[in-house]
Amino acid sequence: MRRSVVAGVGHYLPQRIVTNADLAKQIDTSDEWIRERSGITQRHIAADGEFTSDLATNAARKALEAAGMGPDDVDLIVVATSTPDETFPASATVVQSKLGCANGSMGFDVQAVCSGFVYALATADNFIKAGQVNSALVIGAETFSRILDWEDRGTCVLFGDGAGAMVLKAEDGKGTSDDRGVLSTHLHSDGSLHDLLYVDGGPSSTGEVGYLRMEGREVFRHAVTKMSEVVVEALEATGLKADEVDWFVPHQANKRIIDGTARKLGVGADRVVVTIDKHANTSAASIPLALSVGVGDDRIQHGHLVLIEAMGGGLTWGSGIIRW
Ligand code: UT7
Repeated sequence: MRRSVVAGVGHYLPQRIVTNADLAKQIDTSDEWIRERSGITQRHIAADGEFTSDLATNAARKALEAAGMGPDDVDLIVVATSTPDETFPASATVVQSKLGCANGSMGFDVQAVCSGFVYALATADNFIKAGQVNSALVIGAETFSRILDWEDRGTCVLFGDGAGAMVLKAEDGKGTSDDRGVLSTHLHSDGSLHDLLYVDGGPSSTGEVGYLRMEGREVFRHAVTKMSEVVVEALEATGLKADEVDWFVPHQANKRIIDGTARKLGVGADRVVVTIDKHANTSAASIPLALSVGVGDDRIQHGHLVLIEAMGGGLTWGSGIIRW
């Protein structure tokens, strides 16, 4: 059976750090409120003229380097983002050009907001499994700072900018859960929940980019339930048990959601990768960023079982199990 094996990961964060105290100077909030309600202490914000494709390209270069591969060694580029440089073309083609790929590879974007990386990973995995490509670069990249209403304290304190990337290569496995690579992915959406989390603009509606709007408390409620369900679905599909999971790497939206989901799953805090304190919620970038941090500090190692999950606007949600 063809498997999509992780060959390398990398991430990039913009240089500028904005702390909770910095925000408290501009809007009616406090370090204490943000820390207690979300677990966030700071976020990275892209510089003027620094675009999502720049963040994505920097993360991709690091992932390719970690994989010992060059830009012409990837057959497919999938970028998960809700904040592309332009309405079109796809960020993946911009990244393809910035990386200098000249091998006739293909690239496109996937739009599933905070679940974007899980959707992009599932897409790339299926292209590899189908035999259509032998390698893929999967990127989650966002400049959410550009779609925040900086006067809405209920949302602007929660998000940040960043990018994470993963290189996948086709390898033959036995078709068991001992194989290395992506073992399973599970995707869901429910468009009737649109009003809980959306951007109030777009090319076909207002002609303007718009700002993020969120019913925080309602999203929170759905997050713990849906993410717990989709994680159980992944374990059941692979016949694996929660205590076999080496690393739980959830979407980083809120420390309380992460703790609640891990508790429901029965995974101890020492097996959860948490980056929300330093990165805030970077939407589609949060999982690959956290994976890259976990690999970078030697927590995630060859052979480890890694469980990812996310929920975002749409609503969309999903999970995946990867043997590293
Ligand atoms: O990644 C996509 C998915 N997104 C999420 O998963 C986010 C899910 N939601 C959450 O993480 C939480 O609901 C929030 C962190 C957004 C909010 O936490 P909460 O405990 O649900 O607070 P709340 O919205 O119920 O607000 C409580 C109070 C309100 O004041 P009153 O009405 O009780 O007087 C808000 O006005 O906190 C107030 N408040 C703030 N106070 C200081 C809201 N934002 C702020 C702020 N600073 N930044």
